[in-house]
Amino acid sequence: MNSYLELANSVIIDKENRLVSCDKSLRLIGTGRSAFVFKVTSTNKAMKVFFPNLAYISIEEAEIYQSLQGIHYFPSIYETGSNYIIMDYIEGYTLFECMTYGVVITADHIKEIDYALSLASAAGLNPSDIHLRNIFITSDGNIKLIDVARYRQMKKCRQWSNLKKAHRQFYRKRFFLKKVPASFLNILASLYKRGLIPNYRL
Ligand SMILES: Nc1ncnc2c1ncn2[C@@H]1O[C@H](COP(=O)(O)OP(=O)(O)OP(=O)(O)O)[C@@H](O)[C@H]1O
Ligand SMILES: [Mg+2]
Repeated sequence: MNSYLELANSVIIDKENRLVSCDKSLRLIGTGRSAFVFKVTSTNKAMKVFFPNLAYISIEEAEIYQSLQGIHYFPSIYETGSNYIIMDYIEGYTLFECMTYGVVITADHIKEIDYALSLASAAGLNPSDIHLRNIFITSDGNIKLIDVARYRQMKKCRQWSNLKKAHRQFYRKRFFLKKVPASFLNILASLYKRGLIPNYRL
């Protein structure tokens, strides 16, 4: 197999941050606002490759993961380059996927996510950017959190307390459909980001 550095170098991203090509042993599994994430085939590792203009985040995020190593709610990391991080591949669904596939998110899951975040706070961090695509329920029912790049920011992040509130006020109610279209969730997210949902301040 090629080295991780060679694999990372095979990822070509254009000026509009579109993926142009990559080695055939990389399978795209996720796209965020700062990176493409691949599964390295025949391994249980994921490679997060940052967009060229945001490559500097790689070192910041890797340092934060370092301070979380040993907390099993976060993936272990194995190698960091100037624009990539190698970490555990997480088998499961993000909360966003759970909602679109109809996998039920229980009050116990919420408690466990709370606990995982409290461990990150106890490690001196300020968990931020906690949204539906950054939280996994694994195929064996455990919680994993990813995308920790903003955990050292000072600003208070209300996203998780808002998600907990929405879970309590709407999702847990019997009338709330447990399977919703991705387009509906994306519209909600966009209204939320623009501060247009009353009582759910950013
Ligand atoms: N270790 C992993 N195992 C499996 N899937 C992953 C892993 N890391 C990331 N993903 C998938 O890739 C997506 C994007 O990853 P990530 O959140 O790290 O990117 P980002 O650009 O920092 O995102 P954001 O837009 O939240 O800032 C995730 O939402 C998830 O679906
Ligand atoms: Mg993310």
